[in-house]
Amino acid sequence: MTITPVLTKRWNLERSWELTTYERTDGYRALAKALRKHPDELIQLVKDSGLRGRGGAGFPTGMKWGFIPQNDGKPHYLVVNADEGEPGTCRDLPLMMADPHSLIEGIIIASFAVRANFAAIYIRGEAVHALRRLQYAAVEAREKGYLGKNILGSGFDLDLVVHSGAGAYICGEETALLDSLEGYRGQPRLKPPFPATHGLYASPTVVNNVGTLATVPHIVLNGPEWHKDLIANEASAKSPGTSIYSLSGRIKRPGQYEAPMGTTLRTLLELAGGMREGHTLKFWTPGGSSTPMFTDAHLDVPLDFDSVAAAGSMNGTSAVMIFDDSDCVVRCVMKWIEFYHHESCGKCTPCREGNYWMAQVLQRLEGGQGTEEDLQTLLDTCDNILGRSFCALGDGATSPVMSSMKYFRDEYIQHVRDGKCPFGNARVMAGAH
Ligand SMILES: Cc1cc2nc3c(=O)[nH]c(=O)nc-3n(C[C@H](O)[C@H](O)[C@H](O)COP(=O)(O)O)c2cc1C
Ligand code: SF4
Repeated sequence: MTITPVLTKRWNLERSWELTTYERTDGYRALAKALRKHPDELIQLVKDSGLRGRGGAGFPTGMKWGFIPQNDGKPHYLVVNADEGEPGTCRDLPLMMADPHSLIEGIIIASFAVRANFAAIYIRGEAVHALRRLQYAAVEAREKGYLGKNILGSGFDLDLVVHSGAGAYICGEETALLDSLEGYRGQPRLKPPFPATHGLYASPTVVNNVGTLATVPHIVLNGPEWHKDLIANEASAKSPGTSIYSLSGRIKRPGQYEAPMGTTLRTLLELAGGMREGHTLKFWTPGGSSTPMFTDAHLDVPLDFDSVAAAGSMNGTSAVMIFDDSDCVVRCVMKWIEFYHHESCGKCTPCREGNYWMAQVLQRLEGGQGTEEDLQTLLDTCDNILGRSFCALGDGATSPVMSSMKYFRDEYIQHVRDGKCPFGNARVMAGAH
């Protein structure tokens, strides 16, 4: 399979993050082209390209931009979601480190399309290195006239702020992000109203992921048909474009692999040199810990939004975490639920209490002190969280529990019957993290 990099094409260049490198490799050409178009034409172009948001839900980007009301007399905002907190997800940070101008160019084009004169990048607090790189790139762009007043003589003005969060997973949820950006505690807002009409400071706002916006300059330069053709197979026609698949875990060469949407794990494993020597694939996540796990029976599922959903999971953020026959599924799920328990914002009872209890039950089970009844308790708890939580964090937490029970119930039972972890994991005391 031949793969032509798009989003990662500059990553290996000398000083890839600098403006001179960017301009030498087509950088800001798309902006000049976009500014000659009518904003509505740009929205239509992105609609025609079939681009779907890379933040997890796969929402059509052009449609989202089209929801912004026009001539409403209110300021409009573009907010970039660079929080990247989903376990296993690690592609936005390398993109911002290696090619920050591709994001900035995408931001300017998107802001022009939705008539926003203020944009903010919300980046997670721990990522100080990427924060500095973005700030440096924003200064370079401003000095060259790509940001600020009358961009490239078009009459369009845009201010860009790079804002550091404080490292809370919930602040990746778009409305919690907006509250945090406004200076409040980051907790999700009730929807509707949606950010498209009542977003930042109750004004029309587009919230997009880093990868979504970094794709936009390529679409403007190469056209919507080019983008629609970027699929690994026909089944993926409704999720076109490339994705950066973040491969981690028990494989020979973990890393970021850019490939057309619809690429299968079988192919990705070939690219990554296969499983580590002497071990076989046991389970994996197609898009982060909030997406139901798959097994070796799913090696040929095209990894795009619709095909993964049809196979019972979610494409999410293309965070492919791979586990082998030496890994204990109960321990793995326990660690994930400890994360959700820690990151639950506490606003609603099902998620706040449910994750607290699930973490304890899983610690008991993993330590060999559980009972078979605990399995039903876990499923009942999931039943009380799923669809009853205020935001998708709660729903997502049920995915690893329910999918692991579906595929590896025997392994849970074995922990109970043996009174210990069959993989020899040290006994985990309840409450120990
Ligand atoms: C708990 C939680 C965490 C999220 N974290 C992120 C994140 O770090 N980055 C991101 O782009 N989207 C994240 N999302 C999805 C956002 O709410 C939103 O859908 C996304 O930013 C929209 O961008 P897109 O249309 O470009 O995909 C998260 C959602 C939830 C429920
Ligand atoms: S589901 Fe969890 S994270 Fe979301 S609002 Fe409720 S408590 Fe907060």
